[in-house]
Amino acid sequence: MEQNHLIFLAIFALLVPLSAHAATFDIRQHGVQNGDITAALLKVWKLACNESTPAKVVIPKGEWTLKQALLVGPTKSPLELQVEGTVKALADPHQLPNKEGEWVTINYISGFTLSGGGTFDGNAKIAWTKNDCHKNKNCMKLPINLSFNFINNSIIKDITTKDSKNFHVNLISSRNVTFQRFRVSAPAESPNTDGLHIARGVGYNIIDSIIETGDDCVSMGDELSDVLIKNVRCGPGHGISIGSLGKNIQEKDVSRITIDNCTFINSDNGVRIKTWPSAPATLKITDLKFTNLNMVNVSNPIIIDQQYCPWNLCSLDKASLIQISKVKIENIKGTSFTQDVLIFSCSTSKPCQDVQIGNIDLRFTGDPTLGGATTKCQNVKYVSTGKQNPPLCAKSSAPKPLPK
Ligand SMILES: *[C@@H]1O[C@H](CO)[C@@H](O)[C@H](O)[C@H]1NC(C)=O
Ligand SMILES: *[C@@H]1O[C@H](CO)[C@@H](O)[C@H](O)[C@H]1NC(C)=O
Ligand SMILES: *[C@@H]1O[C@H](CO)[C@@H](O)[C@H](O)[C@H]1NC(C)=O
Ligand SMILES: *[C@@H]1O[C@H](CO)[C@@H](O)[C@H](O)[C@H]1NC(C)=O
Ligand SMILES: *[C@@H]1O[C@H](CO)[C@@H](O)[C@H](O)[C@H]1NC(C)=O
Repeated sequence: MEQNHLIFLAIFALLVPLSAHAATFDIRQHGVQNGDITAALLKVWKLACNESTPAKVVIPKGEWTLKQALLVGPTKSPLELQVEGTVKALADPHQLPNKEGEWVTINYISGFTLSGGGTFDGNAKIAWTKNDCHKNKNCMKLPINLSFNFINNSIIKDITTKDSKNFHVNLISSRNVTFQRFRVSAPAESPNTDGLHIARGVGYNIIDSIIETGDDCVSMGDELSDVLIKNVRCGPGHGISIGSLGKNIQEKDVSRITIDNCTFINSDNGVRIKTWPSAPATLKITDLKFTNLNMVNVSNPIIIDQQYCPWNLCSLDKASLIQISKVKIENIKGTSFTQDVLIFSCSTSKPCQDVQIGNIDLRFTGDPTLGGATTKCQNVKYVSTGKQNPPLCAKSSAPKPLPK
């Protein structure tokens, strides 16, 4: 008994100081000027990084202006940035102190948490009207709202990003990062406002989140593995995409991507894989699971497009050299705004291999005079289980005889 007590006390004595000494920094106590937290945040970040016990930086409720912030680790202990209020960018992107930089960048940190229920407001309504990058190569590049690079074992939760001037969030060169209850909100007509762009990393999770934007909900670049996108609602926007890939020869493989229990509402695509034809890269895209997806008036619920060639930027003569394999598509249901509910436009030189298709129940809800839902199959090797409505690859398995 006595001994147990002593052990308990000893453990208690060891544990208590750790939690009790967690340092909390409220930015208001560090030089906020007229609601501008730019200088205060940088100062407090440095202090917090230097704490030997877990530290927390709090941006309290209220509306704050942040001109730009480059927040860099390492830290001595886990650090949490708790954003309770709304952090607004300046309306004019030309006023960014460092015009090459993003708005908020968090680099080289491990054990980081971004939390608090607050909002990052890119304040981009004016900037969008000036964005002509789709037609002007020398356009001004608008900043990305939140950029995470080289971060490990970190969590971004209960945060909203709103009206970004460009991609909302970039997550690059990182490991084991989770976005949970993350919300992206921008109007459907806002240009190039991808929700999350993720690439070059291992172990990215996007769960329990809502992404409404003008471009891709989540877009995945190369050198990526172990991605889980689960319980996410997408739309409006372009849906979840892998790619486009293949344009540059140095691109590396994409593998183990799971998209599960997601709902797509009025989006252009559900899940789309795009690779460039007539392009040098030979990476592999493998081990993909698209399961339990609910489509509501989605234009292309599932599409593999290996002839992705927007604005005639490439030639279609040479097939894509990217091998797509081990794709499981299971329990996809709902409605499609176009007739081809599943599209496999795979490469003639590298047909899609080991595609497993389970239950599909997709209805076409566009112009009824066109007929019912169909699927489109080119260069795909698949096996099916369960029930498919519409039947798979009916067009290609029973092609019309060519006129003599
Ligand atoms: C970092 O913390 C140590 C004590 O833990 C202190 O001596 C040092 O001055 C701090 N450095 C900065 C830059 O604040
Ligand atoms: C993240 O993990 C990688 C691989 O283990 C390591 O090389 C890198 O230094 C880590 N970065 C940080 C900021 O801890
Ligand atoms: C991933 O990161 C989370 C959050 O920091 C951490 O709790 C977990 O242990 C990490 N997982 C691995 C395998 O390192
Ligand atoms: C699927 O997602 C919905 C909506 O996000 C959620 O309510 C439900 O619990 C999820 N189901 C599973 C099995 O995770
Ligand atoms: C269905 O999607 C199409 C194309 O995105 C759109 O024009 C139409 O308004 C949507 N219908 C409904 C009922 O939302």
